[in-house]
Amino acid sequence: MKISNMFVLSNQNSIVDQYLSELRDVNIQQDRARFRKNLERIGELLAYELSKSLTYKSKVVETPIESTEVKVLGEQPLLICVLRASMPFFQGFLNIFNEADSGFVGVYRQEDGADLDIEFLYQATPDITGRELILIDPMLATGKSIVKTVNNLEKMGKPKSIHIVGVIAAPEGLAYISNEIKTQHKIWVAEVDRALNEKSYIVPGLGDAGDLAFGPKL
Ligand code: URA
Repeated sequence: MKISNMFVLSNQNSIVDQYLSELRDVNIQQDRARFRKNLERIGELLAYELSKSLTYKSKVVETPIESTEVKVLGEQPLLICVLRASMPFFQGFLNIFNEADSGFVGVYRQEDGADLDIEFLYQATPDITGRELILIDPMLATGKSIVKTVNNLEKMGKPKSIHIVGVIAAPEGLAYISNEIKTQHKIWVAEVDRALNEKSYIVPGLGDAGDLAFGPKL
């Protein structure tokens, strides 16, 4: 599929392919600690790639030998964690952007046959106005959670730009996000899979990321 403002980590072979294979493998993904660790590692690697697109400024530091000009991040991004499945993946971003502000939103998939409704339940974020926003959700399936999150957050103000990050995306979700989000944005994922199934799960995907990381919910 052709989405111009998208970065796909697995377009180049790397250790990320190994982490993805462990996340997908039904025999390995049962190890919750390893599952969370692999999400966190991919978060760190995507955060590194995304960091190349941010702005930097010069400053002078004193080394023990002499003063020298160095580059530092121009402004701290604002990380938004979509509870609950995002938490390990979000931790990877926080490991890299360790001075960033963080916000949390709670969205809930209400499955009703073929229809999927997203309830927006909880929001604890700083003001997003003028911020470099990084929206973190490991499974970009229908894209509805992300669009709902952006619509709710933008009631507060306009961010400078939006980075939407995921581990695995479905083409349907990517198309929906691109059509619905009008603010300048870029999508960063580790892999794009084939499609969604009738329950709006990604195929081949990995199953339910929240359940695999934390155990089943009611
Ligand atoms: N959420 C998941 O955890 N998995 C999917 O395939 C889709 C949404």
